Amino acid sequence: MSKLGLFGAACAAALGSLAACSSSSADLPGPDDGSSGGTDKDSGVTFVRDGSVYDSTPSPESGLGQLLFRPNNVYSGIDGTKAFKVPLAVYDGDADLVVTASDSTALTLAKTTLKNPVNADGLTDNGKYYMITALKAGMYTLTATSKGRSTTATVTIADYAANRWGAGNARYNNGVTTMTSNRACANCHVNGLAIDHSPAALATATDQEIGIIITTGVKPGPSVIKIPTEPGTQHKWDVTSTEKDGLVTYLRAIEPRGFQ
Ligand code: HEC
Repeated sequence: MSKLGLFGAACAAALGSLAACSSSSADLPGPDDGSSGGTDKDSGVTFVRDGSVYDSTPSPESGLGQLLFRPNNVYSGIDGTKAFKVPLAVYDGDADLVVTASDSTALTLAKTTLKNPVNADGLTDNGKYYMITALKAGMYTLTATSKGRSTTATVTIADYAANRWGAGNARYNNGVTTMTSNRACANCHVNGLAIDHSPAALATATDQEIGIIITTGVKPGPSVIKIPTEPGTQHKWDVTSTEKDGLVTYLRAIEPRGFQ
């Protein structure tokens, strides 16, 4: 299974798919002048450190000292009964980092940490993680500020009918263990392969994209899901539209994996 992010780049220490630490070079600005003080060869002008980012050790995941959210666009929901959470991280914030929401009654933000911040390549993810708990449907902006710099992220919270979770739960755990298109999701996602599809993996996927993954096995990218233990089997499951909606709600309400 790929340890890389699904819906964006990732270094994915513990969580596999949350678009987090590294980003594709296309997302990042050029390597700047990479300097941290000295003399500009062309102009001969001496410049000094700005007292912020270049004074710290650049983090391995960006190396560029740019304050950023990863991901910077996440989805969650509410249904009036379950807790819906979604994580995201800020990179290159200093000790004075503050994150606020455009509507403080719409969500809560709690600092959290990865269970395993070191990924398979030995790189440490030193993002500052926040767990969002959704409280009110709508679209909101998070703003991170540190040392005079600021950056934003978008949080979209859907309003799910209260009966959706139950429909999802019933399909997810229907007990079917045979290799049919009606197979229980829990067979592979809880038992067996235990592939993460908690909000840590699906933070940046829209509800529609999650539905497409369930019914066609195609992930944004696009890429086609392969089931390692069963080559030839496709990730195409029989679900009614009520079950599909229910599964999206059910997955959004799973406790995000990989945090402590
Ligand atoms: C036969 C095993 C199997 C069954 C049954 C199964 N899945 Fe999956 N699922 C996988 C595998 C394998 C992946 C892909 C992992 C990858 O490509 O990294 C996956 C990926 C996903 C993803 C994308 C997550 C990610 O981050 O890659 C979602 C969402 C998902 N499955 C939902 C479901 C739902 C809902 C059901 C039940 C209707 C279901 N799956 C049934 C094996 C299974």
